[in-house]
Amino acid sequence: MMQTRWHVAENDADWMVQALLYINEAEAEALAARGEFHIVLAGGGTPKRLYKALTGQDHDWSRWRIWYGDERCLPAGDPERNSTMAETALLKPIGMTPSSIHTIPAELGGPAAAEAYAGLLAGLDKFDLVLLGLGEDGHTASLFPGHDLGVAAGAPPAMAVFDAPKPPPERVSLSACRLGRARHVLFLAQGAGKRDPVAAWRRGEPIPAAAVMAENGVDILLDRAAYGDEA
Ligand code: 6PG
Repeated sequence: MMQTRWHVAENDADWMVQALLYINEAEAEALAARGEFHIVLAGGGTPKRLYKALTGQDHDWSRWRIWYGDERCLPAGDPERNSTMAETALLKPIGMTPSSIHTIPAELGGPAAAEAYAGLLAGLDKFDLVLLGLGEDGHTASLFPGHDLGVAAGAPPAMAVFDAPKPPPERVSLSACRLGRARHVLFLAQGAGKRDPVAAWRRGEPIPAAAVMAENGVDILLDRAAYGDEA
């Protein structure tokens, strides 16, 4: 049975400390073992704050390799793209080398972008750390309820997504199977808006986020408002 570990932060500052510590530990482990740190970035507002906080830390950025869990099919550089958010909040401020950034070419449209990204992903066995958000409907990356989540072992690593309920409707997402091929998986959730999907997940309901299963289990970092057991 895969482990799902819930980490409930006491307050916002504690949440950020725990998130940064988790990243630092995954990075240290990866660099000691393999000399490179392959991290998958998530989109959304919750990770954005974390990316900004990361810029204030000292890291050997030259050893980081950036991947994305999903992307919105919009023109390159569109402010609504997940890659634009990550570039603005983290990658540009720290001066990340462009060749270390593996952006999903979502401007090509879902199917072509998914195929191109699958080609890139073929060169990497496991991610060191996958960061993921949690949507109010239980989605993660661009894996939405009622859609193909790509759970099966033979699922494609990246999939085109149409009719997404969160705009824009066309997206590219790594499959649940590929997201789970990781040494560490950290979900980031904050706020009362996440209480319903968290409660559903804790009840064992098959929300999309729960489809991401990693060998070492997954960690979910949330605050009291999202966890829902306030005293
Ligand atoms: C996106 C995401 C998505 C996001 C969640 C949580 O394209 O927006 O990748 O899966 O991580 O919707 O977003 P918030 O942190 O903004 O609630």
